[in-house]
Amino acid sequence: MNGTMRAVRGHRRGGPEELVCEGAPKPVPGHGDVLVEVRAASVTAGELDWDATWTDGLDGGGPRLPAVPSKEVSGVVAELGHGVTDLRTGQAVYGLIPFTRDGAAAEYVTVPAAVLAAKPGSLDHERTAALPLAGLTAWQGLVDHAGVVPGQRVLVHGGAGGVGSLAVQIADALGAGVTATASARDADFVRGLGADTVIDHAGRRFEDEVEDVDVVLDTVGGDTLARSWQVLRPGGVLVGVAEPPTAPEGADVRAVFFVVEPDRAGLEELTALVEAGRLVPQVDRILPLEDTPSAYAALEREHRRGKIVLRVS
Ligand SMILES: NC(=O)c1ccc[n+]([C@@H]2O[C@H](COP(=O)([O-])OP(=O)(O)OC[C@H]3O[C@@H](n4cnc5c(N)ncnc54)[C@H](OP(=O)(O)O)[C@@H]3O)[C@@H](O)[C@H]2O)c1
Repeated sequence: MNGTMRAVRGHRRGGPEELVCEGAPKPVPGHGDVLVEVRAASVTAGELDWDATWTDGLDGGGPRLPAVPSKEVSGVVAELGHGVTDLRTGQAVYGLIPFTRDGAAAEYVTVPAAVLAAKPGSLDHERTAALPLAGLTAWQGLVDHAGVVPGQRVLVHGGAGGVGSLAVQIADALGAGVTATASARDADFVRGLGADTVIDHAGRRFEDEVEDVDVVLDTVGGDTLARSWQVLRPGGVLVGVAEPPTAPEGADVRAVFFVVEPDRAGLEELTALVEAGRLVPQVDRILPLEDTPSAYAALEREHRRGKIVLRVS
């Protein structure tokens, strides 16, 4: 018996109302895993609707209950599983936890060592926890899927959000010219992240103001996604993360949808940007672990800039 811990768990699939902070067995690291003592975790819009939050498959699968949410962790390695040679006990690490495993809304979580990276030395655990899921989504979207190069024009939809606030900074750091859509009240905030132009999504039509864009990164979906094809240059690419885009028939554009993957090398790229002063994770608020249900409820109904973070210890 490895002891007990405090954890936030859902005993059946549902919304924030199903989550309870309670005693739970402390997990035991399997082969290739490490046990992480969680210092901070963060939550993502839509997470409680994903199959993988409650099952052992990305798209359906058998139930995995009770389930611990929150896939972004920053903490300290407490114990090494068999076969782990590249991390050490006491090391500060961060990462995106694979979606079909229990998350970090708990005092301890087991994570495959291969997906963890050393925590950026210049950030505290709370800011670090705001980075892995949103940052890897932005990095993989802009670099791995869109192949952004210096001088290109990038349009980021939802520039003040968890993913968007990092995507604006990363696109700027890659040398692209950045336009973002956001609420009017977030315009100065998003300009401060590196956007050359910010378009109020409620008051203006972005398609009247931008054209010949090389890459659209869409974190919004719906009508915003549907209206985005017309602003792309021929050969341009639309990367959607909120919902799969379908390019209009015959259009000379590329449509990409992907689900972010845990990725140590990607985290190391993010860390390098952080240490170079080019990337600052945006934290809207920090809540204690027992307020995890309110954190998920706030994602559904409150305006935010960046991420909501859970302070665990
Ligand atoms: N596929 C993947 O791997 C992946 C990874 C991460 C996230 N996601 C998904 O991507 C979406 C975004 O995630 P997130 O964590 O960045 O969410 P978020 O923090 O809620 O950010 C969304 C942003 O979009 C803004 N927005 C809303 N309507 C808009 C519109 N019509 N035009 C422009 N901006 C608008 C919101 O601003 P206001 O608050 O002012 O409305 C908010 O700042 C979610 O659906 C999430 O589940 C997918």
